[in-house]
Amino acid sequence: MRTRLEALRADITTLAVDAIVNAANSSLLGGGGVDGAIHRAAGPGLLAECRTLGGCETGGAKLTRGHRLPAKYVIHAVGPVWRGGDRDEPRLLAACYRRSLELAVAHGVRSIAFPAISCGVYGYPIELAAPLAVETCAAFPVAGARIERIVFALFDARALALYQGALASCAARGGAGA
Ligand code: AR6
Repeated sequence: MRTRLEALRADITTLAVDAIVNAANSSLLGGGGVDGAIHRAAGPGLLAECRTLGGCETGGAKLTRGHRLPAKYVIHAVGPVWRGGDRDEPRLLAACYRRSLELAVAHGVRSIAFPAISCGVYGYPIELAAPLAVETCAAFPVAGARIERIVFALFDARALALYQGALASCAARGGAGA
């Protein structure tokens, strides 16, 4: 089975997928951007659960339940702050996508949605992050993993266009499932 990769213009909090990924910070205790939106939509139970996790290192991810969200789980991923690109940012960004997918597999997730991690407050240029996100997910070993659908949920038209371009390039090389 091949994993289907797709890009949508959507508020990630509305998606009825098995897991949504949060662009969190290392405290895992909430913030602005997509993190704030997820905590608002999930309700206070999410923060209470996050308090038990003890934070998370950059490049890592931790899983909670979805509380009041349509999604069953939230995977809180901590992307790098962009500091010019020579401070290990690409490796750390790829690592948090891979760790998120590993957690998804471990919890039987069949559909997962990612925001553009690090591309807001953390300043990662989205034209660099989009191909990295797509390539990392396309290269994730799915043999036996059973993730059927990976959605990139983008907030604006420019982000959507960049992800669609990255998906098309990846598919042209035989990498992506759609
Ligand atoms: N659905 C989908 N995408 C969204 C949504 C939404 N509801 N809201 C924002 N985005 P950011 P970061 C997009 O800043 O750069 C927080 O305070 C947004 O347009 O949320 O990883 C955390 O606590 C952008 O493209 O995350 C951390 O401290 C992308 O999501 C810090 O910000 C990510 O922007 C993390 O910064």
